[in-house]
Amino acid sequence: MRRIQIFDTTLRDGEQSPGVALNHAQKIEIAHALARLGVDIIESGFPITSDGDFECVSRIAREVRGPTIAALARTARADIERAAQALETAPRSRIHVFTSASKVQIEHMLRKTPEEVLESSVRAVKLARQYTDDVEFSGQDVMRADFDFVIQLYRAAIEAGATVINIPDTVGYGTPQEYGALIARVRDEIVMGRNVAISTHCHDDLGMATANSLAAVENGATQIECTLNGIGERAGNTSLEEVVMAIHTRRDHYRAETGIHTREIYRVSRMVSRLTGMPVPPNKAIVGDNAFAHESGIHQDGVLKHKETYEIMNAELVGREAAVMVMGKHSGRAAFRKALADLGYVTGGTADHGLNEEALNVLFTRFKELADRKGQIYADDLRALVDAGADIAQA
Ligand code: KIV
Ligand code: ZN
Repeated sequence: MRRIQIFDTTLRDGEQSPGVALNHAQKIEIAHALARLGVDIIESGFPITSDGDFECVSRIAREVRGPTIAALARTARADIERAAQALETAPRSRIHVFTSASKVQIEHMLRKTPEEVLESSVRAVKLARQYTDDVEFSGQDVMRADFDFVIQLYRAAIEAGATVINIPDTVGYGTPQEYGALIARVRDEIVMGRNVAISTHCHDDLGMATANSLAAVENGATQIECTLNGIGERAGNTSLEEVVMAIHTRRDHYRAETGIHTREIYRVSRMVSRLTGMPVPPNKAIVGDNAFAHESGIHQDGVLKHKETYEIMNAELVGREAAVMVMGKHSGRAAFRKALADLGYVTGGTADHGLNEEALNVLFTRFKELADRKGQIYADDLRALVDAGADIAQA
C-alpha cells in the first residue's frame, strides 16, 4: 500500500472562494480541526498578501501540532522571506513556491519570457531551501501549457532543490486521461529514482477535479491537494472527503491509503461550512444531507434487508449517523413499518395490542395519499397519521 499525503488547502485556496473571508479565530479553529482529522500538510496562508495573513500563518505555525505547516510564496525574494519568517516556529515547515507554466499566463500576467520564468524559479527554490529542506514548487495552469516546457521547468526546480513538485490544473481544463498521462511523463522523465514527491492540485471547473486527482494517484502522484467540501477559486478544488473515501473504499483498485481519521470528516465538513457560510449541497458526495439517505421503496426495502444492497460505505465511517430512510411517496411498506417501529409503535401486534396487519394496511394507504399531497413525510406526520387512525388500530 502506498501512503498518499493529504495536503489541505482549505485555509489558502479554499479561502479564495468568492465571498469567503475567514477571520483569525476561525482559521485557527479550522487548523486545529484539520490536525485532528489527520491531514499531513496544512497550507495555512499566503503571508505576503497581508499582515493579517502573516499573523495567522505565524500563529498556526506556533500552535498547531502534527501536520507540516506550509505557506505560499511567489518567486519574489520578499514573498519567500515573509513565508519563511511566518513559519519560523513550526517544527516542520514547507515553503510552497509558485509561478506560471502556460504561455497565456507567462505572456499576459507575468509579462516574462519562458527563460525568465525558468531563471526566477530556480532562484526562488534555491532561496527557499536556505530556510527549510521541504520546498514545494508549482507552475500554474500546466494543462494548457506546452508539456515540453513543463518538463523543463520542473526538472530545473528539482535540480535547484524542490522536494515536492505540484502539477496544478489551475483552471480545471484537463481530462483524467490527459492529466494522468502527464503525471506519468513527469514520473518517468524527471522524478524516477529521486527522492521527490509528485503532487496533484486540481480545480473543478468541468467537474473533473476528483477524477483527475485520482488519475494522478494511479500514475505516480503521492500527494493530493484538496479542500473540505471542495471549496476554492471559482468552481472549487478537489474535495478532501471525496478523494479520501474513494481511496479508502476502492483500496483494492488504488492500492493506497491515507492517514485521515475518516470518522472526523463530517464534523470538520460542517465546521467549514458554518464558518465560511458556504452551504453543502444536499446531493454532495460523502457529506451532503442526502449522501446516505434512501428514498425509493425498492432501495429502502433492500437496505433494510441488507445494507450493502445500496450502500458502498457505512455512514458511521465518516462520522455520520446510520443511513436515513426518507419517508415519501416512493417509500415502501417495509420502510413504513420500520419508521413506525422506530417511533415506538408496536407493529405486527394483535387486534388489542399494537398495530395489526390490517391496521397497518389502512395506515399505509393513508400515508401514500398524504405523501402524494405533501412530498416528504416527517416523524410528526407519522404520529398524526397513527393517532388519527386510532379507530382502525384497535379495530
Ligand atoms: O490553482 C493553482 O494553480 C494554485 C497554485 C498557487 C498552486 O492554487
Ligand atoms: Zn488552486
